[in-house]
Amino acid sequence: MSAQKPHLVEWAGGEIAVFRVNGAFYALDNLCPHKEAPLVAGSQVFEDGQTWVSCPWHRFLFDPATGRCDRAGFDTRAYPVTIEEGQLYIQVC
Ligand code: FES
Repeated sequence: MSAQKPHLVEWAGGEIAVFRVNGAFYALDNLCPHKEAPLVAGSQVFEDGQTWVSCPWHRFLFDPATGRCDRAGFDTRAYPVTIEEGQLYIQVC
């Protein structure tokens, strides 16, 4: 996984987009809750004092740590991420 490029993880429950933001890893549901654009194709923007993941289609913003959306009613799921012995783990349950 490159330093800034998001990474797509597929599992039985769907797809997860993994982002590296300011040196930390974050995982969000890949499909935007607005119209299901792939968040893995989004970009990172700095706005209102924090880094957000911007949806590639309509630019809704998501907090990579919590999944909170800047638009009411469109929060997405954020998954806890840990790194152990150089391996990245995403807690899906
Ligand atoms: S599909 Fe993501 S903001 Fe519309």
